[in-house]
Amino acid sequence: MKYDATGIPEFYDKARRLPEETITLWLNRIAYHTGVRPLTYIADLGCGTGRFSVPLHNRFMSTVFGIDPSRKMLDKVSSTEGVTLIQACAEQIPLANHAVDMVFCSQVFHHLRNEHAALDEVKRTLKPDGFFCIRNSTVENLDSILHLKFFPRAYRDDHTLLPGRHEILTLIPQHGFALKGHEIVHQLFAHSRRELIDKIRMRGLSDLAIIPDREFAEGLTALETYCLKHGTDTPVYEDMDLFVFQRA
Ligand SMILES: C[S@@+](CC[C@H](N)C(=O)[O-])C[C@H]1O[C@@H](n2cnc3c(N)ncnc32)[C@H](O)[C@@H]1O
Repeated sequence: MKYDATGIPEFYDKARRLPEETITLWLNRIAYHTGVRPLTYIADLGCGTGRFSVPLHNRFMSTVFGIDPSRKMLDKVSSTEGVTLIQACAEQIPLANHAVDMVFCSQVFHHLRNEHAALDEVKRTLKPDGFFCIRNSTVENLDSILHLKFFPRAYRDDHTLLPGRHEILTLIPQHGFALKGHEIVHQLFAHSRRELIDKIRMRGLSDLAIIPDREFAEGLTALETYCLKHGTDTPVYEDMDLFVFQRA
């Protein structure tokens, strides 16, 4: 998807904002898998509005390259402390060979135009033994996402578009990476169902942006009705996969 051709950048940051504790959870899981090796240079590939770029810089004391093809998404990055923004796509990364210790890729895998070219570029830009961390929804964790129960077309589209775990676990080693770890992270997405509704209403998720307006309105009403009936204060968790590979 070309984000610049959509209205998503306008609302992405608010609609997809993660609670502080969720960002910390992800940083902890990355630290667990990468161990004591210093992550001096990190590429946040498909960084979008930089949800993870500055947190990566702060946590690992790294110089972070925030790379994304969308000018509109990059323009929404609110802080560039320790982050160099680069407008480019994963299939052609404008970094030197062996430039970074880790490539972090959050919710980007299913947007790649050419997975093979992108994986070759990730390998080229990583130092030997460098880490490739993929944070992504997969077909297997779709059922953990509450709002998708009310947007059947978005669910079906995601099912077609998203990778399955097996696909990632077989494709990436074919490009010269060894699996270091894989886990399903149970993340807090919203402190309450009320907050979830506010986020969903902004329509900043790519799967909700492309469904017809009428279906979006119907889904939102159904979600609101469900939440009113079952409690609006309940926190909302969902599952997401973390794959950590190491360059061979
Ligand atoms: C769902 S957003 C994820 C943004 C960010 N990583 C995050 O987790 O908030 C997907 C991002 O992938 C970017 N993208 C799309 N195609 C890409 C490509 N071929 N190479 C790199 N990034 C791409 C989009 O511009 C968008 O910013």
